[in-house]
Amino acid sequence: MSSAIDVPASPQSGSSSLSGSPPTLDPSTLALLNSFIASKTDEERRFNELAEEAAARVAGLSLEGDGEDEGANDKPMMSVDEYRSVFSEDWQLSQFWYTTPFAMRFARTLHSMCTPTTSIAFLCCPTAFVAFQHIEPLKNARLLEVDGRFSVLTPRHYVPYDMEDPTALPAYLTEGVDIAVVDPPFLNEGMLCSPQYTNVNVVKTLRQIMRPSAKLIVLTSTSVSEILERLYDSPPLGPLRRTRIEVLHGQLRNDFACWASWEGSEELDLVEDGESKEEKEEKEV
Ligand SMILES: C[S@@+](CC[C@H](N)C(=O)[O-])C[C@H]1O[C@@H](n2cnc3c(N)ncnc32)[C@H](O)[C@@H]1O
Repeated sequence: MSSAIDVPASPQSGSSSLSGSPPTLDPSTLALLNSFIASKTDEERRFNELAEEAAARVAGLSLEGDGEDEGANDKPMMSVDEYRSVFSEDWQLSQFWYTTPFAMRFARTLHSMCTPTTSIAFLCCPTAFVAFQHIEPLKNARLLEVDGRFSVLTPRHYVPYDMEDPTALPAYLTEGVDIAVVDPPFLNEGMLCSPQYTNVNVVKTLRQIMRPSAKLIVLTSTSVSEILERLYDSPPLGPLRRTRIEVLHGQLRNDFACWASWEGSEELDLVEDGESKEEKEEKEV
């Protein structure tokens, strides 16, 4: 990701009157640069703390076990706001985070569909996973993601996943998922991974991990709706219905929507009640 700050190019050696003098920045640019560096340093410090905590928790733990006390030693999941300050978006990976209010309401909607033993997989949507586990952690919630930074969030629940190798997943996930939530990366045909290519791969993954009775929720751009109709065409993946859920991002102006796979899911909408004080304040600003 490139910074928004334009630092003037260094003068060429031997060139006229600037030769030998260091490049200077005007004070406002310098202040911006310093504040950018300070926030990056802070992000890095917090990330390193999390990584150390995660390493300490992993030591001596079985990541796949399902013993009685599984998760008993897990730390509470951080808030979405904290997550957003620690994990900056990497646009090369098509990372555009949901807003905090959207992530929280969406997570509540998902919780309303779960019991304590529901197996729920979040593919390529870390913010939704964080919000969901922050509200109430489920022991069978998993985050499937290519970005290894997320392993420090909760090592037991992170599953390394690259849609380029769509079926390379732990055996315990095979037909092991009751609810799958996916936000497939890459929407531009011109990118290395087109939406067509991306969704073909994601569908292979979903066919492997979803139980025959499982439910699917897909969040993506309306520009790929024709691809969805074609690829998510039979149970348990489809046919997909467009829900009432309105998807909101901080940095992305693309027109997004939310589809789901079960009969009646056209009526699915965000759960509004039970908002936290922070969410209410954020909405009022
Ligand atoms: C479009 S973003 C969705 C993020 C979502 N808006 C959120 O806030 O959680 C897609 C996600 O796909 C992940 N991703 C990118 N390339 C991937 C790949 N090859 N395999 C799996 N996930 C990938 C990115 O790291 C990113 O988190």
